[in-house]
Amino acid sequence: MPAFDVDAFRRLLPGGVSFAGHQGALATTPPLIGDEALAAARFSEARRREFAVGRQVARQALAGLGRAGEQSIGVGRGRQPLWPDGVVGSLTHTGDVAAAAVADVRALRGIGIDIERDQELAAGVAEAVLRPDEPRVDPVVQFSAKESLYKLWWPIARQWLDFGEVAVDVGADGALRYRIDRAVPPEFRRLRAAWLRSGDFVATAAWIETD
Ligand SMILES: CC(C)(COP(=O)(O)OP(=O)(O)OC[C@H]1O[C@@H](n2cnc3c(N)ncnc32)[C@H](O)[C@@H]1OP(=O)(O)O)[C@@H](O)C(=O)NCCC(=O)NCCS
Repeated sequence: MPAFDVDAFRRLLPGGVSFAGHQGALATTPPLIGDEALAAARFSEARRREFAVGRQVARQALAGLGRAGEQSIGVGRGRQPLWPDGVVGSLTHTGDVAAAAVADVRALRGIGIDIERDQELAAGVAEAVLRPDEPRVDPVVQFSAKESLYKLWWPIARQWLDFGEVAVDVGADGALRYRIDRAVPPEFRRLRAAWLRSGDFVATAAWIETD
């Protein structure tokens, strides 16, 4: 299976981001710390492993920011990771690939990242994810772009955002542009996003720089 270029994803992200990625099967499930074990208590083994790998790359990314690498990263009521004070971030996992991106709030107001397998969306998914008036430019990239946007959106807006409220324009230059058809928090005027296709995967990121 063609590999995902973790470094290319890192280069997509703005300055001030600390990024960590993992690719490949692990012989053992990484350890969970504190509240993380409680959050994962009823997970299946596969879900526990993906959750634990996400936490592992998240700790590596935090260490890159100079934040203690051995702390618990809890789970918020929207399922979002609970980052240490003064940190924003996002994580994603798909099969054997996982990545995390974190930044100091003085650099970024927020970030969302997503990796998806580069394959045709399952029957019915494109219809659920793309608006009828949204050109089918690159459905898997458009889907991933919406997932990244949601991971950025939720921790700031604390409101559900529906696939039908957003349209994505996939630029050949690697940029993504969103049209969000609802009232948005003011900082979303500074929304930026990018995408790449690598190996068997596509990756997207959406972020807002601190004013
Ligand atoms: C939450 C969601 C975006 C996760 O995306 P995914 O492609 O299924 O899975 P990924 O592996 O890429 O990401 C999962 C990680 O996202 C993070 N996440 C989950 N909910 C989150 C939220 N509300 N806010 C920020 N991050 C969140 C978590 O870290 C999660 O991993 P973990 O549970 O192991 O900690 C997706 O499942 C979902 O619910 N989408 C519906 C909402 C949406 O996308 N609306 C469209 C807006 S245009």
